[in-house]
Amino acid sequence: MKWQKKNIKSIWVLGSTSEVARSICRELAVLGCKHFHLIARNSIENERFADELEQSFGVVVNCQQTDLMVDANLNNKYIFEVGDFDLYLVTAGSLGDAELARVDAEEALRITAANYTGLVRWITAIANPERLNKQSRLWVFSSVAADRGRPSNYHYGAAKAALTTFCEGLLLRCNGKPFAVRIVKAGFISTKMAIGKAPAVLCVSPRCVAKKLLKRPDSRGIEYLPFWWLPLMLVVRFLPSFVASKL
Ligand SMILES: NC(=O)c1ccc[n+]([C@@H]2O[C@H](COP(=O)([O-])OP(=O)(O)OC[C@H]3O[C@@H](n4cnc5c(N)ncnc54)[C@H](OP(=O)(O)O)[C@@H]3O)[C@@H](O)[C@H]2O)c1
Repeated sequence: MKWQKKNIKSIWVLGSTSEVARSICRELAVLGCKHFHLIARNSIENERFADELEQSFGVVVNCQQTDLMVDANLNNKYIFEVGDFDLYLVTAGSLGDAELARVDAEEALRITAANYTGLVRWITAIANPERLNKQSRLWVFSSVAADRGRPSNYHYGAAKAALTTFCEGLLLRCNGKPFAVRIVKAGFISTKMAIGKAPAVLCVSPRCVAKKLLKRPDSRGIEYLPFWWLPLMLVVRFLPSFVASKL
């Protein structure tokens, strides 16, 4: 089936206070996106960003609050409803405290909730059967950390790997349908998540990430960002364990 490509005039963001999400929203506003639905845990920061978008670009912005720790709870009775948008962007995620998670299962579960289990209800609500037959896009931020468990952050890596596999299944389910799923395996981005943890030379700016993604807005599939993480992670995946144990 052929369908007409549609410009991004409306966006729904989970994790809208993330540096990467803000850059994508700003770039999109410049490109003519008119409606923003911003979901974050920190309402004050979210409202502040909404004001910035409204005042700088004259766009319509709605804000919503959520906490992925609560969303991950099986007993949560909240009804997860998501309206129609041209792009659904999931940038929520957290490194957490990797040292603590080694000995404290609560922290391990918090990391899992912020990067995977808390997102499942939202992505399920987005990817309902009717929507998969509509022209829209889902972009989910995973990480190169999903490619191999490393001693330094295996809770985060495991949660991102689960998120990647979940979204890859959805991506394949959407094969031949107008709904496009794009999984971004990001390397280091110079945000508060990476600063002090990654060598500056390996970091790209959130603006660069936004520009790269928006260059090909109708892309679907799994992509490494920047692209050179693909060969690098191929090497990392096949490193012998005595070398990988130092990572
Ligand atoms: N920065 C990197 O080097 C890097 C590398 C690879 C992949 N990534 C991934 O790229 C995405 C964006 O990263 P970033 O660096 O822009 O992140 P960031 O600035 O640290 O933002 C993280 C976002 O996740 C939200 N979040 C965290 N825990 C949450 C919870 N319990 N409930 C609701 N929201 C929660 C934060 O909301 P609040 O502000 O409201 O807490 C914030 O919007 C993330 O998924 C990250 O894992 C980043």
